[in-house]
Amino acid sequence: MPSLFEPTVINGMALRNRFVRSATAEGLATADGAATGALETMLAAFAGGGVGLVIPGYAYVSPEGKDEAGQLGVCSDEQIPGLAGLASAVHTAGGAVALQLAHAGCLGVPEVSGRDPVGPSALDTPEGAIGRAMEHEELTAVTHAFAAAARRAKEAAFDAVQIHAAHGYLLSQFLSPYFNRRADAYGGAVSHRARLLLEVARAVRGEVGDAYPVLVKLNAADFLPGGLSVDDMLRVAGMLEAEGIDAVELSGGTGLEQGLSFSRVGRPAPGEPEAYYELAARRFKGEIGLPLMLCGGIRSLETAERLVAQGATDYVSLSRPLIREPRLVARWQAGDTAPARCISDNGCFDPPEGSVGLVCAVEERAARRARERERRAGE
Ligand SMILES: Cc1cc2nc3c(=O)[nH]c(=O)nc-3n(C[C@H](O)[C@H](O)[C@H](O)COP(=O)(O)O)c2cc1C
Repeated sequence: MPSLFEPTVINGMALRNRFVRSATAEGLATADGAATGALETMLAAFAGGGVGLVIPGYAYVSPEGKDEAGQLGVCSDEQIPGLAGLASAVHTAGGAVALQLAHAGCLGVPEVSGRDPVGPSALDTPEGAIGRAMEHEELTAVTHAFAAAARRAKEAAFDAVQIHAAHGYLLSQFLSPYFNRRADAYGGAVSHRARLLLEVARAVRGEVGDAYPVLVKLNAADFLPGGLSVDDMLRVAGMLEAEGIDAVELSGGTGLEQGLSFSRVGRPAPGEPEAYYELAARRFKGEIGLPLMLCGGIRSLETAERLVAQGATDYVSLSRPLIREPRLVARWQAGDTAPARCISDNGCFDPPEGSVGLVCAVEERAARRARERERRAGE
């Protein structure tokens, strides 16, 4: 029976356990998207805290695909030395590291990227249309951008790349009928909507070679009207398997629908599984031969153990719990099996004023209060 703390290998990438730090934007890169010492320190802390595979926050593959200030970039060779620093910091702390390659598509932010957002189609919103539909030359260019980004990650000694095709960003937009209204070869049937992702996967593979792990993060479903369904996701996963992808990380939702976003607020409703996408994961494992990483809502060692032991997933991905407790995996391994202290209030998306980078808002407020008490005591 598979167990959480046993070592595994994915296409040559050795992992010391089955825990993954799911990509989580740290907001610690420079204005040009270069890595910083603060980002190195944060990523090393996850590896030092016991995580087997660390995935830094999404890195933009081309300038118009940038989503937010402080985002890591992988769109220029000048960024390779900084990226190499990140990989080295994680390796020194005992972990493996994969770079998530991303493009925000029509949700790109012009104030941040300096460009107009582009995607499969213009996105209709109550406030008006956002972005415009990409031309065929732009699809070719973005495919090359993903491939060049993968080459940079490999040169920087990352152990793997992860193509971000979840959460309503560019490749997820193409997969989803909610965003993708195209009438050409890239829209319509799911095999058409998957075309750009498959072209990107092929181009990335062509750049990094067969002996290098290429992962994909997919939505189980979008939870948008007419959006990507679990059946669609399984079709896409089957195509990715045939294309020679090495593993899939399963997430879900977008930033558009707050209730069923990729980072849901609070505890699951009674009767709902702790892991948001457990049922979709079980279907995946029943139909698809690829290793699966499951993220979303997992907060207890008991659930993590059960999911892996029952074969519902091969790996357990955590995002918010590690913001509050970077040493959570080490804590569990040492025998303190209390659930993660994360309360899923999403304060990490909106940290207290004056905070720098990714912080747990609950911990940050407590630390401020403690500092304030000390200051008063010293007066
Ligand atoms: C502050 C924050 C930033 C995130 N940034 C990313 C990201 O860069 N790429 C990504 O794929 N998911 C991102 N996510 C989503 C997480 O990877 C994960 O899918 C989600 O939070 C659910 O897992 P959890 O319940 O363990 O937090 C982010 C989540 C948070 C809270």
